[in-house]
Amino acid sequence: MKRKTVVLFAGLVVVGTAVGLFLSRPRPLEANVLPQHNVDLANGKVMYDAGGCISCHKPIKGADALLPSGGSQLKTPVGVFYPPNITSDKATGIGGWSDLQFVNAMQRGISPDGRHYFPAFPYTSYAHMKTSDVLDLKAYLMSLKAVETSSNKTTSIFAAPMLRRGMGLWKRFSLDTRVFKFDRSKPKSWNRGAYLVSGAGHCNECHTPRNIVMGLDFSRHLAGGPHPEGKGKVPSLRGLKKRKRFTDVADLNSALRFGEIMGYEDMSSGGMGDVQTNLSKLPEADTKAIAEFLFSLQ
Ligand code: HEC
Ligand code: HEC
Repeated sequence: MKRKTVVLFAGLVVVGTAVGLFLSRPRPLEANVLPQHNVDLANGKVMYDAGGCISCHKPIKGADALLPSGGSQLKTPVGVFYPPNITSDKATGIGGWSDLQFVNAMQRGISPDGRHYFPAFPYTSYAHMKTSDVLDLKAYLMSLKAVETSSNKTTSIFAAPMLRRGMGLWKRFSLDTRVFKFDRSKPKSWNRGAYLVSGAGHCNECHTPRNIVMGLDFSRHLAGGPHPEGKGKVPSLRGLKKRKRFTDVADLNSALRFGEIMGYEDMSSGGMGDVQTNLSKLPEADTKAIAEFLFSLQ
């Protein structure tokens, strides 16, 4: 009887592992998703600034501060990451990557060698970007100077291969890969704002609350989330008008463009200062579009 139990248990472990491995397997996109595309570098720069790549892929002291050569600490509630070099260097950056490999990283969170990325890299938002915008972003990165870096650091816990593989299970529940859908009943500028907020801008990553498995809870879209630094809350971006946080779209636009230097409050802590600096580099029509969309949320 006892032996039977052991055999049964061992069997369950084997089957459980097999099912887990099957469900967590990486499912990259195939080359047929790549559209015929003429590169628009100016658009790539807009996606780069809206995406805030430099804020996380921040160079270490001494390296060119304007190039995303990575290596600086990124503190998150689950531990410290060192976002890697994403400059065009072939050996230590992503200069040798194909378009498809880049699209898979940005929209599926899968590396060229078929491993899952941790969602500290906000591909959960970048997945909503149009593939053509992702391709322009890659072309823009490739147009910048290559920076060679020494080997990338990883904190021990995140180096565990099973943890990485386990992200595949998490993705099944929490990675929504639908590209943003335009709402034809709304103005073009509103749609542009909504697109930038949900995709490249990855505003949801901080401003939308999470469910028990740490996935974004879209039933409470942009209603405020836990503060990345552990104290207080990331404010809600709903009802900004009703709560008299900003007087009108122009006022909110100027808060996004100028932040606290122009006397706007609550625009600096928990990463928002970096976000605001990046937003200030966008064409004015884009920050206005973001403001128009946010102001419409009840
Ligand atoms: C909130 C922080 C954050 C932002 C913003 C961010 N990244 Fe990352 N990125 C990371 C982290 C962390 C990793 C490493 C993930 C891992 O090891 O699983 C990463 C990994 C990557 C990789 C994989 C590199 C490799 O060598 O495997 C690419 C490509 C990348 N990011 C591109 C971008 C681009 C392009 C942007 C801007 C649109 C961007 N990232 C914005 C945090 C970020
Ligand atoms: C890394 C996390 C993070 C991301 C990403 C982020 N925010 Fe924030 N945001 C914050 C925090 C934290 C605050 C509060 C800052 C403070 O009190 O100093 C804030 C504050 C704000 C405020 C002020 C709200 C008020 O009531 O005064 C606005 C507006 C805002 N964010 C818009 C955005 C937009 C638009 C995006 C996307 C382009 C975005 N945020 C992305 C963390 C983030």
